[in-house]
Amino acid sequence: MRDLALCLFLFFLTNCVTSVPTKEEFESCLSTISENPSNITNHKSDSRIYTASPESPSPDSSFLNLNFTSLKPILTLKPESESEIKKSILCSKKLGVQVRTLSGGHDYEGLSYLSLSPFMIINLVNLRTININLTEETAWIQSGATLGELYYEIAKTSKIHAFAAGTCPSVGVGGHFSGGGLGAMMRKHGLASDNVVDASLMDVNGRILDRSTMGEDVFWALRGGGAASFGVVLSWKVKLARVPEKVTCFISQHPMGTSMNKLVHRWQYIGAEIDENLFVRAIISNNQNGGQRRVKTTFQALFLGGVDRLIPLMNQTFPELGLRARDCSEMSWIESTMFFNWKSGQPLETMLNRDLRYEDLYYKAKSDFVQKPVPENVFEEVTKMFLEKETPLMILEPLGGKINEISESDSPYPHRRGNLYNIQYMVKWRVNEVEEMNKHVRWMRMLYDYMTPYVSASPRRAYLNYRDLDLGSNTGTNTSFEDARIWGEKYYRGNFKKLGLVKGKIDPTNFFRNEQSIPPLF
Ligand SMILES: Cc1cc2nc3c(=O)[nH]c(=O)nc-3n(C[C@H](O)[C@H](O)[C@H](O)COP(=O)(O)OP(=O)(O)OC[C@H]3O[C@@H](n4cnc5c(N)ncnc54)[C@H](O)[C@@H]3O)c2cc1C
Ligand SMILES: *[C@@H]1O[C@H](CO)[C@@H](O)[C@H](O)[C@H]1NC(C)=O
Ligand SMILES: *[C@@H]1O[C@H](CO)[C@@H](O)[C@H](O)[C@H]1NC(C)=O
Ligand SMILES: *[C@@H]1O[C@H](CO)[C@@H](O)[C@H](O)[C@H]1NC(C)=O
Ligand SMILES: *[C@@H]1O[C@H](CO)[C@@H](O)[C@H](O)[C@H]1NC(C)=O
Ligand SMILES: *[C@@H]1O[C@H](CO)[C@@H](O)[C@H](O)[C@H]1NC(C)=O
Repeated sequence: MRDLALCLFLFFLTNCVTSVPTKEEFESCLSTISENPSNITNHKSDSRIYTASPESPSPDSSFLNLNFTSLKPILTLKPESESEIKKSILCSKKLGVQVRTLSGGHDYEGLSYLSLSPFMIINLVNLRTININLTEETAWIQSGATLGELYYEIAKTSKIHAFAAGTCPSVGVGGHFSGGGLGAMMRKHGLASDNVVDASLMDVNGRILDRSTMGEDVFWALRGGGAASFGVVLSWKVKLARVPEKVTCFISQHPMGTSMNKLVHRWQYIGAEIDENLFVRAIISNNQNGGQRRVKTTFQALFLGGVDRLIPLMNQTFPELGLRARDCSEMSWIESTMFFNWKSGQPLETMLNRDLRYEDLYYKAKSDFVQKPVPENVFEEVTKMFLEKETPLMILEPLGGKINEISESDSPYPHRRGNLYNIQYMVKWRVNEVEEMNKHVRWMRMLYDYMTPYVSASPRRAYLNYRDLDLGSNTGTNTSFEDARIWGEKYYRGNFKKLGLVKGKIDPTNFFRNEQSIPPLF
């Protein structure tokens, strides 16, 4: 995100933006635009319109961006009804303003709340109702809900149901479901997007479409293609997963050194192969203890079963870890979601917290997919690089299981059979300065370059929900589909073309666009 901010900053130094509609013009449009009155409910938009003040970050952005006021929205609307979203879209079209839809605001490059062009934000925070149907084992979830709100609601309703999605509770459903959704149950139940069975989409004309009226190709595109290219997804219908009343979690920590390298090396052979009820991820991070910097690897695991079955399973498949029953805890599934957030023992209500309690506000992230085990010495080199940094992070998440049973073209998310694990790289920093940003971003690119020989290639794969503008971005309003292939095929591989065709059908004028939206193909 800092990268985008920098590049936009340079853009604004050298360009003059003219005739940007004012907030007042936009509000006047909202109050006059004609619409069937029966659709308008609870109209009290004033309390929901915020103007960005030049000094402070826009109040709705969770990740504070650098102090570049030019990137602020003309206004942020927090609609309470679908008709208000429709009016926002129609007025934005009329006034030549871009729309950025914000659900949880976790986009790694800030594309839900930053833009080069004049724009407004539709913040879905007030549209977050969750309706669970236990008979059907489904739920309808409005896009503004967070994963934590969804997990909490499911746990309140049933002890044996759950949903397979990401581990961070403040992530929004809107961005997460539409970009895939990797989580601790994916080896058993697939990605979040694999479990979407219907959706409600508002298109560029303000029409509300469901799966049957949008057509199977548009519905396909929403399940991993990134919804921002196609419209505003109002809500999602998902299939719930069944879980045992007791699951088991453990954490196993290992300081840097030969035995840590051997463990991570060995883990690569079993992570994607073991019983699909078992998810063991490896987190490489730094410890800053008493002035001395140390690297460590933390194995963090969820087993959909009891400890009595887990111990023999681990003894058989990963004996090097030396797991014992007393290292494990049995708990309910909802408690396991807290465990994965280092929140064990806290009230379940902390899952409802929408704020991002990040100590370090600035970061740069990247992703990779690994297809054959990386040599042991690579982890030694990574340790050396980590020692140069205060807060570097690499999260290795095992794939396999259910993910492999789904074909690459079944949804836009293509990273299936043949991929052992996903890597998420991250570096964080505290000082809000361009020089500081450059230093950390350079380091991140160096680590990424170092990993090149060991990860997927031609093209090097990337995960959409770990958005990275280094991969390439649209320039101006009219990037051709051909030019976008450079980054598009990294996220979507062979599915990119179909995404372009769907875009050409549902939004032919390319109204819904951002730095990495899909250009229309006809
Ligand atoms: C702390 C943290 C932890 C994370 N953990 C995981 C994890 O465990 N697994 C994983 O897979 N990912 C994880 N992610 C990544 C996360 O899945 C993505 O950033 C996701 O896109 C965030 O969704 P959001 O709604 O919060 O973001 P937003 O910033 O609101 O949206 C992201 C993108 O989707 C668009 N969008 C949002 N809502 C809609 C809508 N209703 N209709 C149309 N377009 C929409 C936005 O315009 C933007 O382009 C994590 C991210 C963070 C910051
Ligand atoms: C608005 O209401 C009319 C009549 O009730 C209906 O036909 C139309 O589909 C509604 N539009 C939206 C966007 O809900
Ligand atoms: C942000 O910019 C404003 C206006 O230029 C300035 O007054 C303020 O000090 C800046 N804040 C930071 C944290 O740099
Ligand atoms: C739940 O789904 C069943 C089966 O489709 C349906 O008959 C029932 O009306 C639904 N319940 C609610 C509360 O919507
Ligand atoms: C692990 O397996 C070995 C034999 O494969 C057995 O001797 C040992 O007791 C087992 N340990 C545990 C903790 O199950
Ligand atoms: C966009 O590009 C296409 C083909 O490259 C061209 O035909 C079209 O006129 C361009 N549109 C605008 C608005 O520049």
